[in-house]
Amino acid sequence: MLNEERGSLKASGNLVYNTLDKHSNFFVMNQQLFEIIGWIWINIALITFCILFFFKVVAPFGRHTRSDWGPVLSNSWGWFIMEIISIIGLWSGFLITGGMQSPLIAKVAMVFWTLHYINRTFIFPFRMPNKKKKMPLVIVGSAVFFNSINGTLNGIFLGQGWFYFSFPLFVAGMLLFGIGMYINIKSDNILLNLRKPGETHYVIPKGFLFKYLSSPNLFGEIIEWTGFFLMVPSVASLSFLAWTLANLVPRARDHHEWYLKTFKSYPLNKKILIPKIW
Ligand SMILES: NC(=O)c1ccc[n+]([C@@H]2O[C@H](COP(=O)([O-])OP(=O)(O)OC[C@H]3O[C@@H](n4cnc5c(N)ncnc54)[C@H](OP(=O)(O)O)[C@@H]3O)[C@@H](O)[C@H]2O)c1
Repeated sequence: MLNEERGSLKASGNLVYNTLDKHSNFFVMNQQLFEIIGWIWINIALITFCILFFFKVVAPFGRHTRSDWGPVLSNSWGWFIMEIISIIGLWSGFLITGGMQSPLIAKVAMVFWTLHYINRTFIFPFRMPNKKKKMPLVIVGSAVFFNSINGTLNGIFLGQGWFYFSFPLFVAGMLLFGIGMYINIKSDNILLNLRKPGETHYVIPKGFLFKYLSSPNLFGEIIEWTGFFLMVPSVASLSFLAWTLANLVPRARDHHEWYLKTFKSYPLNKKILIPKIW
């Protein structure tokens, strides 16, 4: 089956890899180099996590937005620009490595990633009720940088078949991704419906997992990318999970502290990110 789809694909143990492909020799010969890049990228995510979490550098967008981080642009368009890069990077990496001839599992993973980013790029930003909100350009720039590397790296690894495959893990990953996406979108919907168009005030969100957590949307997103990693384990999918954790764990902590400071009546039993634990 694999051989029919991509003449040169072979399975060694559980690792699906490409032995020879005249269209992408550069990538085939440089698998080790790309894996090293992936590990360096994971270490940069760890450093970023430490800076955001332990030095409490609060990313200044959304409720934490500030005017002293230089030039700003529209919040909705900022989201659009920083997220569309993920789709462009992913598909560029996939197509230049001849990914259209890759096995079905790689294509399924591509579809899952793309579905998430269609929502995040084309739907979510334009549903935000506060159209006057701004975002610092420096945030958009840094997100463009990080999203382009994450997208391209994952596209290359999927296109080349540089991931492990195990059917039970793949199915468990798909389920986890689906559950995470449901939690993420349902929680985002609750937040987006707290205001009428033009309103800018904040309230305490209620219902669904907001009963237990301050940021169930971020919790759902972390579950999604854990599922993606299980579907197609590789240095690339691990690095994206590492970046997701590096951004969202400190952000969830910052949201929680912001709620406690802003609302005297904020329920003290709500946790930051993990129900009943933290
Ligand atoms: N993968 C990543 O690295 C990454 C990084 C960041 C975010 N994300 C994803 O992007 C989405 C948004 O996350 P976020 O933390 O930036 O946004 P957020 O604070 O959860 O806010 C989402 C939307 O709901 C509004 N909102 C939030 N809390 C509200 C409240 N208490 N009362 C009224 N309105 C409220 C916000 O308005 P304001 O804009 O006016 O605050 C915004 O329009 C999430 O799904 C998250 O998972 C992913």
